[in-house]
Amino acid sequence: MRPSVLCILFFSFFLCVSAAHAAGPDCVVCHEALTKEKVVHPALQMGCTSCHTAVDAAEVPHKMTNKVPMGLSAEQPELCFGCHDKMRLKKKVVHAAVGMGCTSCHNPHSSKNAKLLKAELPDLCYTCHDKKKFTGKTVHAPVGIGLCTSCHSPHQSDNEKLLVSVPPGLCYTCHDKSAFTKKNVHPPVAAGLCLDCHAPHASEQMALLRKDPPFVCLDCHANVRKVPHAVAGFQSYGHPLGIAKKNKKYLEDPARPGKRFYCGSCHNPHSSDSSGLFRYDARTPMDICSACHKM
Ligand code: HEC
Ligand code: HEC
Ligand code: HEC
Ligand code: HEC
Ligand code: HEC
Ligand code: HEC
Ligand code: HEC
Ligand code: HEC
Ligand code: HEC
Ligand code: HEC
Ligand code: HEC
Repeated sequence: MRPSVLCILFFSFFLCVSAAHAAGPDCVVCHEALTKEKVVHPALQMGCTSCHTAVDAAEVPHKMTNKVPMGLSAEQPELCFGCHDKMRLKKKVVHAAVGMGCTSCHNPHSSKNAKLLKAELPDLCYTCHDKKKFTGKTVHAPVGIGLCTSCHSPHQSDNEKLLVSVPPGLCYTCHDKSAFTKKNVHPPVAAGLCLDCHAPHASEQMALLRKDPPFVCLDCHANVRKVPHAVAGFQSYGHPLGIAKKNKKYLEDPARPGKRFYCGSCHNPHSSDSSGLFRYDARTPMDICSACHKM
């Protein structure tokens, strides 16, 4: 019993393969170039007619025996779902590009790029998305090297903006969580609002900030500018805050050469083991002064 079942299985496999080959060479005689790139769609082994069911190869130009362009068995994406059932679009957010056809990104035959992509990332994305939005003085490292899919699903997702997961979890896949979870956590960080302060792709500011550094902070802490800050006792106008005067160069942070002096020179914007979110160990506020002033 067992050997004969095997025999039937083997025989039908053989039949399938030879049927595919019977349809294959017919088309490949004239269309060989389509199959020649490095990465070949495994569907080609199943024969050109696994997709092009309605091409009459006997005549050139071909007569198409159905109304679907290229004599295909179905329109996209249905054509592709025929074999890629798991890709069916069931999630909340579907990339509008998929509606433009799977072949807006994939070559259905063969390609020089992995996953049959028509171009490498990020260039593929820039065929539809304006590259300018992904460039600036500061570019997020994964964006610069085209790792768009480390944050976005190219097809569909249950998260807005096709994100593979949402901040802050998304960010912690690459950034060490311990820097954001010290004893005192800045409330917007605790709430996962990384994007209130940072742009995800690129920015004209340091550290991908959305605005000129002190103003990122002053958006929520307008009061700091109104009352003398940090040194109220002996300075009526308080400590400089790093707000640049027109046409003047920024102050440099004495404790971090090369970096700009601003709120973040004294406070850690994310979290700190000290009260007051201080960047440096401090039991009292005055302890931090010595990080920059010899006293
Ligand atoms: C005798 C040579 C020859 C054979 C065999 C052949 N084709 Fe073609 N095919 C052509 C030529 C020539 C064209 C028109 C020029 C072009 O678009 O490349 C063409 C065009 C096509 C097109 C594009 C039609 C369009 O509207 O733009 C498809 C799809 C196609 N062939 C599929 C097939 C399939 C599938 C087979 C096998 C079942 C096949 N061809 C067999 C020569 C051939
Ligand atoms: C997985 C499905 C699939 C298979 C298998 C397939 N094709 Fe296609 N083919 C397509 C789709 C989809 C298009 C339309 C491409 C587009 O819209 O950009 C197409 C377009 C074409 C075209 C015309 C445009 C072009 O891309 O040059 C030719 C010619 C063609 N196919 C020939 C073939 C031949 C020959 C085979 C077998 C070696 C084959 N196809 C196998 C899906 C397939
Ligand atoms: C006749 C069956 C069939 C059809 C129709 C089909 N595919 Fe495939 N495809 C396969 C098989 C088999 C594989 C290899 C196993 C897998 O990855 O699922 C594959 C793999 C792929 C891959 C991964 C390739 C790689 O190198 O990892 C992509 C991308 C792909 N298909 C895109 C498409 C697109 C786009 C369409 C519609 C234009 C399509 N497929 C239609 C059978 C098919
Ligand atoms: C916006 C461009 C784009 C569109 C449109 C698109 N894909 Fe993809 N697809 C990709 C990229 C990019 C990858 C590689 C993902 C990766 O490497 O993480 C991919 C991977 C795949 C794979 C390989 C699966 C895997 O996880 O490796 C398959 C199969 C596939 N796509 C099928 C399809 C089908 C079917 C459609 C239409 C319903 C489609 N794609 C539409 C960009 C696209
Ligand atoms: C064929 C054109 C096309 C390609 C290629 C393409 N996209 Fe899109 N994408 C669109 C369109 C159209 C929209 C909807 C309008 C918009 O937001 O610009 C969109 C929207 C998006 C969105 C926002 C989704 C939302 O729900 O708001 C993200 C994220 C995205 N694309 C990422 C990518 C990535 C990453 C790539 C490269 C892997 C890519 N796109 C390639 C056409 C494309
Ligand atoms: C580090 C993660 C990350 C990487 C890498 C990344 N993105 Fe995004 N992208 C995001 C986040 C987060 C958003 C949502 C921004 C928001 O809601 O303000 C987004 C939004 C988008 C949007 C929607 C635009 C809008 O303003 O609504 C597009 C399009 C997009 N990304 C394309 C890309 C492309 C193309 C690449 C690769 C060049 C890429 N992304 C790389 C995280 C990333
Ligand atoms: C209140 C605004 C704000 C929020 C919210 C915020 N950041 Fe920052 N982030 C900054 C500022 C300001 C800097 C620049 C620090 C400096 O001066 O070196 C920075 C710097 C960074 C850096 C560069 C390395 C470092 O630590 O200096 C990373 C990575 C970073 N942030 C990730 C995140 C992540 C992930 C989140 C969410 C969990 C987040 N940020 C939330 C303001 C913020
Ligand atoms: C795929 C990995 C990856 C993900 C996901 C990721 N980052 Fe990054 N990010 C990096 C790398 C790599 C660098 C450069 C090295 C560094 O500073 O750690 C970087 C640098 C940064 C910087 C400093 C940029 C500069 O030039 O000063 C900020 C700010 C930042 N990331 C914020 C975020 C935020 C916010 C998220 C979540 C929305 C996020 N990152 C998600 C990989 C990632
Ligand atoms: C999205 C709003 C928001 C932004 C932007 C923001 N903060 Fe805060 N911050 C808060 C909230 C809410 C609190 C808690 C209530 C309070 O003290 O005002 C807080 C508290 C603080 C505290 C007091 C912590 C303590 O334990 O006493 C400091 C210091 C601080 N923020 C510094 C900054 C700095 C520096 C920036 C810019 C890098 C900044 N904040 C940007 C919302 C914000
Ligand atoms: C020279 C160091 C220094 C700079 C620069 C600085 N701070 Fe402070 N900040 C302090 C000290 C010291 C305290 C007092 C903490 C205490 O008394 O507990 C403080 C307290 C705070 C507090 C909590 C109490 C309050 O006043 O609301 C916030 C919020 C704050 N700073 C935000 C900011 C912002 C926003 C900026 C930039 C516009 C900034 N700081 C610039 C040193 C500094
Ligand atoms: C991260 C570095 C840093 C820390 C910490 C710091 N300062 Fe300063 N301080 C500066 C810089 C930069 C200036 C401006 C120097 C200039 O104008 O050239 C300054 C200026 C001053 C001035 C002169 C003000 C003026 O208008 O010229 C006083 C007074 C002062 N700081 C006191 C303090 C006290 C008190 C502390 C502790 C609460 C402190 N500083 C913490 C960097 C720092």
